[in-house]
Amino acid sequence: MFLKLGQTQSIVISSAEEAKKAFKHNDLIFSGRPRTTPSGKLSYNHLDIASPPHNEYWREMRKMIVVHLCTLEKVRSFRPLRQDELCRAIDEISRRASLDQVINLTEVVNCFSVNHAGRVLFGKRLFDEGQRFSKLMGRFQASNLDIFLADYVPLFGWIDKLSGASFRLDKNILIGTIDTSSSTIIWALTALVKKPSAMKKVQQEIRSSLVGRKVIKETLRLYPPNPLSLPRETTDRCIVDGYEIQPKTIVFMNTWAIGRDPDYWENPNEFMPELFLNRNIDFKGQDFGLLPFGSGRRSCPGLSLGVVVVEMALANLLYSFDWELPDGMSEEDIDTQGTQGLTMQKKNPLCLMAKTYF
Ligand code: HEM
Repeated sequence: MFLKLGQTQSIVISSAEEAKKAFKHNDLIFSGRPRTTPSGKLSYNHLDIASPPHNEYWREMRKMIVVHLCTLEKVRSFRPLRQDELCRAIDEISRRASLDQVINLTEVVNCFSVNHAGRVLFGKRLFDEGQRFSKLMGRFQASNLDIFLADYVPLFGWIDKLSGASFRLDKNILIGTIDTSSSTIIWALTALVKKPSAMKKVQQEIRSSLVGRKVIKETLRLYPPNPLSLPRETTDRCIVDGYEIQPKTIVFMNTWAIGRDPDYWENPNEFMPELFLNRNIDFKGQDFGLLPFGSGRRSCPGLSLGVVVVEMALANLLYSFDWELPDGMSEEDIDTQGTQGLTMQKKNPLCLMAKTYF
């Protein structure tokens, strides 16, 4: 799909076939990032790793993040931190379960996720409760969502100032990188609670030590944390599928639509982890129907760390407790509304009853 937003040309890639045509043969040309007002503010003028153009600075930054955070050895070395944060979460759930209280899992999982990230990145816990983090995340997402007219029609830049959008960005600068894991964990639990047969099966598997990786793949297919990935920008002219694409075209990859592409997936809207039993499909960027981490040289370097965190948290939550709906609710009452913004969180908190499994 081609869009003209003010003075900017954009394309949206929404199917597995289009994604393959764009990224398989034109990886280098599609490896830029647009310089937008939000990305500039959030990255201290593009001094991070996600927003700079494809250049030497980005290469050095990416190397640094991979070496210090994402090698197998590093991911393994964070295990005690993950275990400790998970024990705290499990203790909190057990305490509330023993009082027969409804548990706001969104808060518990946010708390786990932000404190794990805090300990990995800064060597300290950041919050004692998930509620404060949830509020901050809400404000961060609102900043992302603000329409920055100046990016599309430069003459209108003064409207941003009046609407307070620039001010809100300054306040929320640090939070952008830590909510993908909590979003995946909550969407996985939501999908499982809505489909008790899948919940029962995966709990049996986890309790007999089989890995629940297929649940994570299926969750990321239906609820990718970044439904529009991170925007790219073409660095040169190219032809994709017979269409000429100009340099500096903004490219949105609709990973949400790609994961539900009816030409790639059967019953695309149904949550069916067993889809992955006999199909050798992975999320590393080579299977173009499943691109929650993007594809090519700008794909997510944090894949292994992200997946290990989600895997360990889900396995523990599903192993340790049987999850029940609060009185008077049925599976259909659990909604799947997502928030708007860079990361799609579940809009309404997931509130469940837990029964400790002995
Ligand atoms: C479930 C967890 C995660 C998901 C679904 C996810 C998803 C993504 C996506 C879709 C992109 C854009 C890729 C593209 O343009 O093709 C991205 C980029 C990125 N991610 Fe992640 N991510 C996750 C976890 C992490 C973690 C734990 C880290 C930190 C170690 C991280 C660091 C980054 C960075 C630095 C980039 C920018 C890469 C670049 O521009 O070269 N991510 N991620």
